[in-house]
Amino acid sequence: MNDLAWNLTIALMGLVVIIFIWVILNSSGQTIYEESAKKAYSVRGGLFWIAIIAGAIITYATLTPWPHPGVPDATAPRIVDVIGQQWSWQLSEDKVKVGETVEFHVTSKDVNHGFGLYDPSGHLVAQVQAMPGYTNRLRYTFPVPGEYKVMCMEYCGVVHHNMITSIKVSPRATS
Ligand code: CUA
Repeated sequence: MNDLAWNLTIALMGLVVIIFIWVILNSSGQTIYEESAKKAYSVRGGLFWIAIIAGAIITYATLTPWPHPGVPDATAPRIVDVIGQQWSWQLSEDKVKVGETVEFHVTSKDVNHGFGLYDPSGHLVAQVQAMPGYTNRLRYTFPVPGEYKVMCMEYCGVVHHNMITSIKVSPRATS
């Protein structure tokens, strides 16, 4: 779609250049001022309509149907259900593969928790709220193998600090 808009833009720019050259070539010689003014106005009127039509075409051509696709996924994401509760995480799955896109469906059984995902070097890479009565979705594609940690990011009681679990990310299977 972007290619189409680009090609169209180039083509129309070319057209405008051709019109300018035509105007320059035709402006030589002795024409009365009024005549050349008339000519210039008609060219300007033509350009106006070209711009209007080109604008409409480009607008239409670059419109994409709703919802707009996000970053395209090669495959459907793997769904992992996550339930937070004082003071642990319950994951429907804790083993994934490198390069795999996981969609976490995160909720809570009691109070608000914070689902924080940390990569093997301890950097926070994704997070979402775990809320009772809601299921929040979080997509993440694991870029490196290793042990990722899930830690609670919202104070939820005395053992909040120990609300930790892990996800093992295995290297891509060689085939
Ligand atoms: Cu759960 Cu803090």
